[in-house]
Amino acid sequence: MTALDELPTPALLVDRARMEANMAAMSAAIGATGVALRPHFKTSKCLAVARRQVVHGAIGFTCATPAEVTLLQAAGIEDVLWAHQPVGPTKVDFAVQALTRGGLTIALDSPEAAEPLSKAAADAGVTVAFVLEVDTGLHRAGVDPDHAVVTAAALTALPALEMRGVLTHEGHLAAHGSDRAGLEAAGDLAGRTLVQVAEALRARGHECPLVSVGSTPGATSAPFAAGVTEARPGTYAYFDANQVGLGSARIEQCAQTVLTRVTSAQRPGTVIIDAGIKAMSSDSIATAGALGIVCDAAGAPLDGLSFSAANEEHGYLTGPATSTLRVGDLLRIIPNHACGATNMWSALYFVDGDRAVERQPIEARH
Ligand SMILES: Cc1ncc(COP(=O)(O)O)c(C=O)c1O
Repeated sequence: MTALDELPTPALLVDRARMEANMAAMSAAIGATGVALRPHFKTSKCLAVARRQVVHGAIGFTCATPAEVTLLQAAGIEDVLWAHQPVGPTKVDFAVQALTRGGLTIALDSPEAAEPLSKAAADAGVTVAFVLEVDTGLHRAGVDPDHAVVTAAALTALPALEMRGVLTHEGHLAAHGSDRAGLEAAGDLAGRTLVQVAEALRARGHECPLVSVGSTPGATSAPFAAGVTEARPGTYAYFDANQVGLGSARIEQCAQTVLTRVTSAQRPGTVIIDAGIKAMSSDSIATAGALGIVCDAAGAPLDGLSFSAANEEHGYLTGPATSTLRVGDLLRIIPNHACGATNMWSALYFVDGDRAVERQPIEARH
């Protein structure tokens, strides 16, 4: 047990009680619908966190990168969904090896991405279990719903490919900002659109047991569309300033903070902290203009302070309350985007109250 005052700064903290409450609430809400919970591992990249999600009912995990897949498979997680297209020779080789280990499903959205994988899998004698990625509004990866039948026919005609269902990431919900009613309606539409695609595929004779939606802002809407079978929120484990802005969480639910100290106060109206972009990541979505929510050492938000700019290892706090801060003061910052902040760190400290109780590695970073 270490007092926060004795930790090095900056440091990445995860309030264990808040994290546990977030996990329990999400698993209760999703479980009540009969929908399975498959959290995205990118939020924590920490096996100690993932193990708690399993205790809270996760049936498996979602991953974005080969390193995440590797880490979870090595830890004995048997049901992993790689929600990214394995394109390029090293990813194709990796996919075949990971498929050989069993329990892996891969997201595909085009014959161009699928053909090299199909060939390598057929040569190795393994089957690629895949979900067809569908674009329900984010306009990132994924086929248009209208093209799903044609693309599914092309993919299932390839050797060694076996379709398990459909997947969407309703990341476009964040564009609704604080308009929660608009966000909920868009989430519901994304869920219903995906179910319609699954039904159209079934009508053409395809097996489609998996209907997978996934995001934290969408977790109160998309999984509730009748016919959705699983939800893949990630950020919910920690929440962050963006989720507060979107109305998906209250500040008191944010479990991840960056512990930092005031290191310089040379100019009135500005103080410098030792948390810059390399501690926070530069991700800003809903909290445009700020790099995070400034809190006191106990984690309570402070009025009159804005985290308005940052260099690599220096943060600039501005606002009237800077006059109350002194060099050496300890603060905590809730990052804009928990998953981006995670990727900046090699370890986190679990915190119980005002004590750090455990240091855990963060792995599978780029
Ligand atoms: C494919 C996929 N599924 C699920 C998620 C989880 O969404 P969130 O971070 O909003 O919880 C993401 C986030 O980027 C994603 O890309």
